[in-house]
Amino acid sequence: MKIDELRQKYLDFFKEKDHKVIGSASLMPENDPTVLFTTAGMHPLVPFLLGQKHPQGKRLVDVQKCIRTTDIDDVGDTTHLTFFEMLGNWSLGDYWKEEAITWSYEFLTSKKWLGLNPDTLSVTVFEGDDDAPRDEESAEIWKRIGIPEERIYYLPKKDNWWGPAGQTGPCGPCTEMFIEVKEIPKCSPDCRPGCSCGHFVEIWNDVFMQYNKQQDGTYVQLKQKNVDTGMGVERTAAMLQGVPTVYDTDAFTPLIAKIREHFEKEEESEEDLKYIRIIVDHVKSAVMIMADDRKIAPSNVEHGYIVRRLIRKAILGFDRLEIENDLMKDLAEIVIEMYKDVYDEVERNRDFVMENLDREAKKFRRTLRKALRKFNRIYDDKGKITGEDAFLLFTSFGLPIEMTKDLAEERGFKIDMQTFREEFEQHRDVSRSGSEKKFRGGLADHSEIITKLHTATHLLQAALRKVLGDAVKQNGSNITKDRLRFDFTFPRKLTTEELKEVEELVNKVIDRDLKVTQKFMPLDEALEKGALAFFKDTYGEEVSVYSVGDFSMEVCGGPHVEHTSVLGHFKIKKQENIGAGLVRIRAIVEPEKASA
Ligand code: ALA
Repeated sequence: MKIDELRQKYLDFFKEKDHKVIGSASLMPENDPTVLFTTAGMHPLVPFLLGQKHPQGKRLVDVQKCIRTTDIDDVGDTTHLTFFEMLGNWSLGDYWKEEAITWSYEFLTSKKWLGLNPDTLSVTVFEGDDDAPRDEESAEIWKRIGIPEERIYYLPKKDNWWGPAGQTGPCGPCTEMFIEVKEIPKCSPDCRPGCSCGHFVEIWNDVFMQYNKQQDGTYVQLKQKNVDTGMGVERTAAMLQGVPTVYDTDAFTPLIAKIREHFEKEEESEEDLKYIRIIVDHVKSAVMIMADDRKIAPSNVEHGYIVRRLIRKAILGFDRLEIENDLMKDLAEIVIEMYKDVYDEVERNRDFVMENLDREAKKFRRTLRKALRKFNRIYDDKGKITGEDAFLLFTSFGLPIEMTKDLAEERGFKIDMQTFREEFEQHRDVSRSGSEKKFRGGLADHSEIITKLHTATHLLQAALRKVLGDAVKQNGSNITKDRLRFDFTFPRKLTTEELKEVEELVNKVIDRDLKVTQKFMPLDEALEKGALAFFKDTYGEEVSVYSVGDFSMEVCGGPHVEHTSVLGHFKIKKQENIGAGLVRIRAIVEPEKASA
């Protein structure tokens, strides 16, 4: 079964069970300061897991684009991927364990659906601890369905608990489904689901989100009991296609075939295969990030930095495979074809992706040539490369340390990594380290300041459109506890007068203490009433609309303040022209200054 069919079957199955299909959210979480990327289907749904009403109801199903950069350096083995797709079905305070488990089993094993052999299925359930009881309820349901007792494993929190995505938030025990791969024998008699030997492959996780983890580490019952499930498209496809790795599924084979067309070495070594996998994974992720409506181009900060890193590593891969031809564009075309019918934005942003990919690839190839010349000069001079040299090659010539290490090894010596690391620590670029930190992060709370900045963003957008006209359209929004950042379409920077006018207008609205209200309505009606909705395809038919008095109206999931006066004083801190007809504004809200 091809990945296209798998996605469709999943959506069809849950539609039959009265679920509403919702579109994938952006790969870049909006209004969330602590994660760079959406790493699971639950991220965009957190407000609804916490109890906010979802416009599409209580049963949802989706295919969510995800990026996980935490194990970016492990890509190249058989399982790790940076971009992947997650199928998910959701109960927002509706059905619970009985339905979730029964449907999972039906979808996996019924001939009408995936038709996997039930004898290859093992499951895990939560063994219980001080925070939550042993999940006998799930185990009983599995037994009743027909999973024999010896294939039900009780595991602790580290294996059978999901969330919160950050420090605090929705979470709960889970039950995971594993397929046994007969070709890979158990590594020991104790081998069990969760073991990394490859015998058991996890394909689906049903999370019973019933707790909210607090700042102090305690778990309190959520207002509602939710089900959050996640099924990895690529892994499940590998099982269905009877192939040993995700790279052997149709999510990758056309890309790998393209590389092999140009591979000219006599034999393909293990090392070569690793680089082939790195290239296809990285090009796919870079394309999918750039193809998002946020229009992320390669750069030195945050998302753009990841894109840059992915592209560069892919180019290094070609270098290692001794492939001269620049296949980046060919591979990008294949990725676009693969996903354009699943995610509309991919086609919409095709030109942006191709231009940026090409520019970055050309630039890095030039840099790489220079770096290699420098490497050889130092080596001829000193007969080695010191840790300081490696650092210089890294910072001034963009030569990644793994590459320097490889080049050194080829010449029979090792880089002094201790010195390299010391240099690195000393000179670490603040913004980069900031983004590295975020990979580890999780979801933020909807704290007060973030909520205020969220409302301020709506006011800013409305004010910009009043002052500059309808050419202003939101392109991206990012909020941290220190500031809001708003990217919008406009052909030039604003004049000082225009900035002042926008700022004053926002402050006037704040002073009028307008009421902020939320309403659900069909998208068409919202658009007719003049609501702004720039990421239309991420919404269902019935949408949540936030209005600030008569000043602003936007399709948005919230949360927002109730009255504008609580925002205090709005101040624009910085504007930039970020290219491609986009302007970026950073702004803050601060407590009202006491009058003199
Ligand atoms: N949120 C769960 C996961 O990512 C379903 O595995």
